[in-house]
Amino acid sequence: MLVSQMAYNISLILVLFLMFCGEMNAMESELQKRQMVMEEEELLGLFEVMDALLEDTEWGQAHPQPCTETPWPGVECEVSSDIQIFHVTKIHIGPDIISPPCKTTAYLSQSLIKLKYLKVLSIFNCFVSSPVTLPNTLFGPFSSLEHLSLESNPSLFGEIPPSLGDVPSLRVLTLSQNSFQGSIPSQIGGLVCLEQLDLSYNNLSGEIPKETGGLKSMTVLDLSWNIIEGVLPYSLGQLQLLEKMDLHSNKIIGTIPPYLGRLKRLVLLDLSHNLIVGPIPITLSSLELLEYLVIDHNPIKGGIPFFIGNLRKLKSVSLSGCELIGPIPNFFSSMKNLTALSLDNNNLSGPVPPNLGSLPNLDHLNISLNKLSGVLQLSNDFIGKLGIRLDVRGNSKLCINDHPKGKNLSLYLEIPSCLSIRDRNDNVSFDDGPLQEDASEIKPSWYNSNISSCSSLLDDLPIIMFILACPRVLLSTAAFNKSSRSVGSDNNKHAIQLPPLLPT
Ligand SMILES: *[C@@H]1O[C@H](CO)[C@@H](O)[C@H](O)[C@H]1NC(C)=O
Ligand SMILES: *[C@@H]1O[C@H](CO)[C@@H](O)[C@H](O)[C@H]1NC(C)=O
Ligand SMILES: *[C@@H]1O[C@H](CO)[C@@H](O)[C@H](O)[C@H]1NC(C)=O
Ligand SMILES: *[C@@H]1O[C@H](CO)[C@@H](O)[C@H](O)[C@H]1NC(C)=O
Ligand SMILES: *[C@@H]1O[C@H](CO)[C@@H](O)[C@H](O)[C@H]1NC(C)=O
Ligand SMILES: *[C@@H]1O[C@H](CO)[C@@H](O)[C@H](O)[C@H]1NC(C)=O
Ligand SMILES: *[C@@H]1O[C@H](CO)[C@@H](O)[C@H](O)[C@H]1NC(C)=O
Ligand SMILES: *[C@@H]1O[C@H](CO)[C@@H](O)[C@H](O)[C@H]1NC(C)=O
Repeated sequence: MLVSQMAYNISLILVLFLMFCGEMNAMESELQKRQMVMEEEELLGLFEVMDALLEDTEWGQAHPQPCTETPWPGVECEVSSDIQIFHVTKIHIGPDIISPPCKTTAYLSQSLIKLKYLKVLSIFNCFVSSPVTLPNTLFGPFSSLEHLSLESNPSLFGEIPPSLGDVPSLRVLTLSQNSFQGSIPSQIGGLVCLEQLDLSYNNLSGEIPKETGGLKSMTVLDLSWNIIEGVLPYSLGQLQLLEKMDLHSNKIIGTIPPYLGRLKRLVLLDLSHNLIVGPIPITLSSLELLEYLVIDHNPIKGGIPFFIGNLRKLKSVSLSGCELIGPIPNFFSSMKNLTALSLDNNNLSGPVPPNLGSLPNLDHLNISLNKLSGVLQLSNDFIGKLGIRLDVRGNSKLCINDHPKGKNLSLYLEIPSCLSIRDRNDNVSFDDGPLQEDASEIKPSWYNSNISSCSSLLDDLPIIMFILACPRVLLSTAAFNKSSRSVGSDNNKHAIQLPPLLPT
């Protein structure tokens, strides 16, 4: 279609050229040709915009017909349906288009408003040295902008202009990793078509405007890494199409509004690193599609809520540093889709549910820095599979069964050996109340039939006798040895991997 239109235009130009050949000089025919293809004002507007951005002052001369004969990869055009005229619909500057680079004094020209048909404006890593603001006058109801992405521009600062809220066609607004300050303008509530709002990694303060709840088409809301304060507005419960809500690393206070349970499409909820208090509302149990529940580092307090066990699709649960108390509930053991569980840095007590080790997909388990107790009964296979992604340290009353000939799991996991605790515990003069209370719990699993015979075998008899008496221990130790070699080179000490932006 494009080609035939171009051919049509070119033939028209040819006819004109032949008609006026005698009278016109080359310069005039060039102008005529251009006018046939693009409106002069729009073309000049584009030249001014590019001139304000790019190092190359000759961009206009090098690309006199950017929509047709002299294209540039960062500019796209569309032909209007009624009259055969091209309009600039996309300007993109980013790492994939490196030549010419942005100039050090790059800025956004007011001439952008002459590009009335512009749908996509995306500028990455362009404003890096001299300070630039986003003028309030660039946007308005006259604009056709659908997609505005200004990302990784460290010298782009100042406030987000309220006039952005007047661009009703906007569907994607990404202003991530700039230096924007001030509060999020409430006018943003006017963007009725908005599907994605990403203002992450700025210096935005103030509260989340309650008008945000009016953005009924929104699927992605990312305000992470700012200094946003105040409570979560109840209106957020109206974002019924929301799939990703990422508000981590702000200064949000108050509780999680119960209305968030209405966000039935939610796949990711990240409220970590804020000042949010508990309890986590039970209404969240209706978030049936939730895969990532990330609430770590908030003063939630209380026990781990039981409804989490109903969220069957959960892959990753992070409740580290939430001042939680009470036991690790057994329901985690039936969440077959779980790949990462972080409960570290709380005050959780009681035993570690042994069935956690039989979760088929669990690949990261951090329960360190709690008050867990008893014998750690995770299988050696599991311990070997997770390698350094298993962290049980810092639970002084948690121990592991070692046996003298096997790999020293106590040393490996950096928790006490149950044998040494038992020896100490047997001594009447050893004074550690809870340890003595839990004494029955601390007995290694292979002691449960007959302690005295097994321990004497361990100490005195040849290894062959030991195999007869306690075959399970030796077999599983061998398995550990085997699998520990296979993960030996794994140095990934990463916490939970969050998914990238959801597909639109
Ligand atoms: C954010 O604000 C703080 C204090 O207001 C300032 O120290 C910091 O440099 C700012 N960061 C950016 C990226 O502007
Ligand atoms: C795991 O997730 C799938 C869909 O992703 C779901 O069909 C399945 O029921 C879940 N498994 C469990 C044990 O809940
Ligand atoms: C555990 O509880 C003690 C006593 O209440 C408190 O001082 C401590 O900060 C808590 N630790 C964590 C990690 O919440
Ligand atoms: C587990 O959590 C502790 C404390 O929060 C942290 O220091 C440690 O690096 C974590 N371990 C892993 C393997 O993620
Ligand atoms: C394993 O190492 C720990 C700490 O060094 C020690 O107390 C324990 O006796 C060792 N266990 C065995 C079976 O060697
Ligand atoms: C056990 O207690 C006795 C005294 O009652 C003491 O001499 C001995 O050192 C203690 N042993 C251990 C392992 O603590
Ligand atoms: C332990 O072994 C002794 C003999 O060595 C036997 O009398 C006792 O009944 C056994 N106890 C259990 C619980 O099997
Ligand atoms: C365990 O691994 C060591 C080498 O790391 C090897 O010498 C030993 O034979 C292995 N033991 C078993 C039971 O596989």
